[in-house]
Amino acid sequence: MRTCDVIAKKRDGGKLTSKELEFVVQGFIEEEITDYQMSAFLMACYIRGLDIDETGNLTKVMASSGEQVDLSAISGIKVDKHSTGGIGDKTTLVVGPLVAAAGVPVAKMSGRGLGYTGGTIDKLESIPEFNPYLKENEFIRQVSKIGIAIVGATENINPADKKIYALRDVTATVSSIPLIASSIMSKKIAGGADAIVLDVKVGSGAFMKKPDDARELAKLMVNIGEKAGRKTVAVITNMNEPLGFTVGNALEVKEAIDTLKGKGPKDLTELCLTIGSHMLVLGEAETSVKSAREKLEEVICSGKALKKFAQFVEAQDGNPEVIDNYDILPRAKIVSDYIASGDGYISSIDAEAVGKAALELGAGRATKDDKIDSSVGIVLKHKVGDHVEAGDVLVEIHANDIVLLDRADTIIDNAISISKEKLEKKAMVMEVIS
Ligand code: URA
Repeated sequence: MRTCDVIAKKRDGGKLTSKELEFVVQGFIEEEITDYQMSAFLMACYIRGLDIDETGNLTKVMASSGEQVDLSAISGIKVDKHSTGGIGDKTTLVVGPLVAAAGVPVAKMSGRGLGYTGGTIDKLESIPEFNPYLKENEFIRQVSKIGIAIVGATENINPADKKIYALRDVTATVSSIPLIASSIMSKKIAGGADAIVLDVKVGSGAFMKKPDDARELAKLMVNIGEKAGRKTVAVITNMNEPLGFTVGNALEVKEAIDTLKGKGPKDLTELCLTIGSHMLVLGEAETSVKSAREKLEEVICSGKALKKFAQFVEAQDGNPEVIDNYDILPRAKIVSDYIASGDGYISSIDAEAVGKAALELGAGRATKDDKIDSSVGIVLKHKVGDHVEAGDVLVEIHANDIVLLDRADTIIDNAISISKEKLEKKAMVMEVIS
């Protein structure tokens, strides 16, 4: 087989076989296929697309490109969750302990963020001393003992995705539905969970800007998951404004803890209860989404979810006192208010712009080697639909540098629209695909 012939076949709209996909992916990892050939291949896939069989086969080849985690030593059905990525998305920090407290084991590998804010691991690392690096046997022991562990994915799991994603990022080939589906599902399959709940985000702050695209991606991933023998459900959710009120690592940890106390923002709470309910049903801890939701509400009210979070943080060397004392989290030196200039209803908050402002402040990484500042970020004081008056604080900007603060302020200036009429707010959960 020759790389050039496989590229030409896809360029001309042909259907690739499993062998051809394996040849390209394996050759790329082993550095027999160069970056320029792989770039051409990815662009051919981007333009011509991959059908359901090709996407499923690509997923399999990527999932088996490295180690596959074996969670069979942990009893019970292990359910994973994954979000396609959004601004202010701290769902895993809430859903993990919530679901574990309700009896379904959570053995989760998460990533660091590239882009607007940190990933789950970056957020957890804003808790002093938190250790995201457990050996596989420690990871399994901790889940068996306390029902939850969240660790950083190691280099050996799905090396194909790491290498391919890095190239997609610089060759304008990220936003391809089959490439996104195979990237996400190969990670989930290699992660070893028995069942998967996917949070597919749609809106200005998401990869998928249109509901039809989000639906196509969700259906494709559910299909791949089921064919790989993993029960899979996808929830399509609104990402037109940031999730909750905070964007930035330590700020998001505080908001996640508030949510576990039952005092979280409405949208975040709704999303966590929805994702968590599906996880309990797939984990066979409950028979219906309705009863699962009631169970989760009870677990929050009784304080069990919060206690599970503290137990999980302590097990990974973090300070569990964080649940009662937010002062141990890093704090920015400057907090600057952004003020409303007129009266009316907030008609939109551009999630992507808020994410960019947080990135300017240092809450995210522009390149994978950038260091994150855990303390900085954005706190919204209002959400879409709220009535505000001139002089009200709309946003707090948490910064450590006056120049970066000014840049973030300029971005926020164009991010929030106020209108005289109240617009109908879109529902958080738009559709469930199973
Ligand atoms: N998230 C992933 O893990 N992969 C993609 O391709 C896009 C979003």
